[in-house]
Amino acid sequence: MNFFDQWLERLRSRRDRLVADPRFQRWALKNPITRPLARRGARAGLDLAAGFVYSQVLVACAQLKLFDALRDGPLGVDALATRLTLSEPATRRLLEAAASLGLAERRGGGYGLGLLGAAFAGNSQALAIVEHQPLLYADLTDPVALLRQEKRGGLADYWPYSDGGAPETLSAQQVAPYSAFMAATQPLVAQEALDAYDMSRHRRLLDIGGGEGAFLAAAGARAPHLQLALFDLPAVAERARKRLESAGLLARTEIHGGDFLSDALPQGADVATLIRIVHDHDDSSALKLLRNVRKALAPGAMLLIIEGMSGVKGAEPLDAYYGFYTLAMGRGEPRRVEAIEALLRESGFGKFRLLRNALPALASILVAEAV
Ligand SMILES: C[S@@+](CC[C@H](N)C(=O)[O-])C[C@H]1O[C@@H](n2cnc3c(N)ncnc32)[C@H](O)[C@@H]1O
Repeated sequence: MNFFDQWLERLRSRRDRLVADPRFQRWALKNPITRPLARRGARAGLDLAAGFVYSQVLVACAQLKLFDALRDGPLGVDALATRLTLSEPATRRLLEAAASLGLAERRGGGYGLGLLGAAFAGNSQALAIVEHQPLLYADLTDPVALLRQEKRGGLADYWPYSDGGAPETLSAQQVAPYSAFMAATQPLVAQEALDAYDMSRHRRLLDIGGGEGAFLAAAGARAPHLQLALFDLPAVAERARKRLESAGLLARTEIHGGDFLSDALPQGADVATLIRIVHDHDDSSALKLLRNVRKALAPGAMLLIIEGMSGVKGAEPLDAYYGFYTLAMGRGEPRRVEAIEALLRESGFGKFRLLRNALPALASILVAEAV
């Protein structure tokens, strides 16, 4: 540590000792100058302690389709109780909780959508994420056991390829729930990526771990001349075939099933995408994957890594959320941009560019070139 770092550390330690002192905490709340700051700190602490409950209120709103019910305007408690199939006292309790969180608004004698409620009402993809959260919450009831890796929970079963077995043998039934969920939430990610990166300059796009082809369909709609290729596990590739066929895109799409860690990837793309993939892997399998991708690309071809990245402004809570999500899943971790770049460099990529995009909490877009 240099002199400046040592000085900073002494200062921070003094601050921590001061704030940890209950007498200081009481003083800071009484003093009119420090009170706003102390209140903000107390509120942040309360929000953290109660956050799990807030999330469950949101899950209840989503599961009971509250936002749909209020979409056309405010309703009274009696009408809402019928719509949500709850008793009137239970309806009132839920709506008061929702109102306190900005998810609904008291209007006249009833309730309407609040700002946040209206935002959820217009975002079925965000609601799909909320509705799949209970699996994660169940695994998080004992976070210390999870950290000690003492048990395998429901989320690990939901993502059956995460156990590192033989993913290419997964059945249609095993891949169905997570594939449908990924497809339902992909359009938001696709919009972020395709607004930030112009695919029309390319000839052939290969989406690796491309799920049911929702990203390819969005990219193909924006760049009608683009040839499309998808690689995923055989059972998922089959789902992609059906989806792309009904979207009328099969004629311009090649679909390949296999294991992207051990099978050769299709050649000839001048741009490839790995969307919500690298963070599913520990460093050794991420390296294996990236080297395999590099083998399929000619020098000068582009690779886009699209996923939530730690340390990016606007994505700060990702380490808590996705750090524990991947822990429950049993594999992977959110990475900082520099850590992803280091893996890419080791795999034969360079000339990195982190694109600007509107919602880094959803995904960041890192562009690399095969060198
Ligand atoms: C988190 S999902 C992301 C799907 C899609 N890219 C998206 O963003 O919607 C990960 C995808 O990687 C695929 N996958 C996982 N392990 C694989 C493997 N070893 N070989 C090929 N695909 C794999 C899964 O089937 C799944 O479709």
